Amino acid sequence: MSKSYGGVHAVRGVSFALNAGEILALIGPNGAGKSTCFDMLNGQTIPDAGRIHLLGQDTAGLRPREVWRLGVGRTFQITATFATMTVRENVQVALVSYHRKLFDLIASTPRYERAEAGRLLELVGMGGFAERACGELA
Ligand SMILES: Nc1ncnc2c1ncn2[C@@H]1O[C@H](COP(=O)(O)OP(=O)(O)OP(=O)(O)O)[C@@H](O)[C@H]1O
Ligand SMILES: [Mg+2]
Repeated sequence: MSKSYGGVHAVRGVSFALNAGEILALIGPNGAGKSTCFDMLNGQTIPDAGRIHLLGQDTAGLRPREVWRLGVGRTFQITATFATMTVRENVQVALVSYHRKLFDLIASTPRYERAEAGRLLELVGMGGFAERACGELA
């Protein structure tokens, strides 16, 4: 992948492969191009050159939500949650979107997938925080 901003080569010829179950870290000094790499992987930035293959499909140029539909998540250095809502409700909001219920007038968001949200929180060891407001947590 390569990406330039004016005369700045933010990323030049970065290439790597990631296998199922593998954890890969990208390290480098400030301005090395790490965030730009992630921006290209999840669709926020379109590479000037290069290709990104996800299980055989070229995802370069897809929009972030299209890449997300294929199963690629992204977190940011500064996380954004709905601070006054509970941890469980934040997960429910994600599930409403994930299940394409955003414009479903019959689906009740406060009740939507409460149990599934709790199950997912248990999965990542956060079951005990489900009813706490996000703004109270670190
Ligand atoms: N949208 C942009 N417009 C112009 N220049 C940019 C843009 N995004 C990144 N750059 C430049 O590209 C280079 C790589 O930036 P990038 O943010 O990818 O680095 P990084 O490795 O994530 O740095 P950090 O460790 O500070 O987060 C830097 O020189 C930066 O100033
Ligand atoms: Mg960065």
